[in-house]
Amino acid sequence: MAEDSNQGSLPRHIAIIMDGNGRWARARLLPRYVGHREGVKSVRRAVEACLDKNIKALTLFAFSSENWRRPSEEVSLIMDLFVHALKKEVVALNRNGVRLRFIGDLTAFSDNLRALIAAAEEETRDNSGLDLVIAANYGGQWDITQAVQNLAARLVDGTLQPQDITPDVLAAEVCLSDLPPPDLFIRTGGEQRISNFLLWQLAYTELYFTDTLWPAFDGQKLDDALSWYANRQRRFGRTGDQVEQKKGA
Ligand code: IPE
Ligand code: IPE
Ligand code: MG
Repeated sequence: MAEDSNQGSLPRHIAIIMDGNGRWARARLLPRYVGHREGVKSVRRAVEACLDKNIKALTLFAFSSENWRRPSEEVSLIMDLFVHALKKEVVALNRNGVRLRFIGDLTAFSDNLRALIAAAEEETRDNSGLDLVIAANYGGQWDITQAVQNLAARLVDGTLQPQDITPDVLAAEVCLSDLPPPDLFIRTGGEQRISNFLLWQLAYTELYFTDTLWPAFDGQKLDDALSWYANRQRRFGRTGDQVEQKKGA
C-alpha cells in the first residue's frame, strides 16, 4: 500500500462515480439520454485535466452491474453512447498517450461493443501517459468474487495452500492490481454511497462527495476536489504526530 502520499500532493490515481446525468437532464426538461450525452463531455474534460496535471491513473464508473435494472430503452441508449464514444474518441486518446482499459464483466456486452473495446485497448496498450480505466458492467462484489475464483482454481490444482492466502495475494487478483490504489475518490450527484464500486481498492482512499451533477463537473470543480485532497492528512493508521515527523525527516 502506498503510504507516502503527503499533504499538499496530487493524487496519483483518481476514481470517479459519475452520477447525476439523469437529474441534470430532468432539471432542463430534457430526456435522461441528453444528460448521458453531456456526461461524455465531462469525461473528456476530466481526461484532459488529468493529462495536463500528469496524474497517473483515472478510473471512471460508467455502468454498474446494477444499472441493467434500468428501463431497457435507457440501457440501450447508454450502450449506443459507449459505441459512439469509442469510435469517436480513441484516436485522440491514443495521440495524447492515454492507455485505455475496461474493467467489469464484458461478456454481457454485444459482440460489436466488445470488439471496439478490444481494439481500443490493443491500440493504446503501449502508451504511458495516463491510465484511463472505464468500469463497465463492473461491481466491486463481482471483482472480489472473480479474484476468489482465481485463487480457488489454484487451490484445486494444488499450486496454492489455504494458509498462503493473504491480503496481498488477494490484492493481486482484483482489478487494477498493477496500479497504485485510488488516492482520491469523487462522487458527483449528491449521494454519499459507494454503489458497489471499487470495494477492495478504496480501503484507504480519501472520499470526496459533491452535489455537482456530472454533466456540470468541469475543470474548476476538479480543482476544488484536488485542493480538498491536498489538505487531507493521510495517516494509514498512524497518529497525526507520526505522519508529521515522517514528513520532516
Ligand atoms: C450516472 O447518472 C450515469 C449512469 C449510471 C450510467 P444517472 O443516470 O444515475 O443520473 P441520476 O442519478 O439519475 O441523476
Ligand atoms: C452509480 O450510479 C453507477 C454509475 C455512475 C455508473 P447509480 O446512479 O447507478 O447509483 P445508485 O443506484 O443511485 O446508487
Ligand atoms: Mg444515479
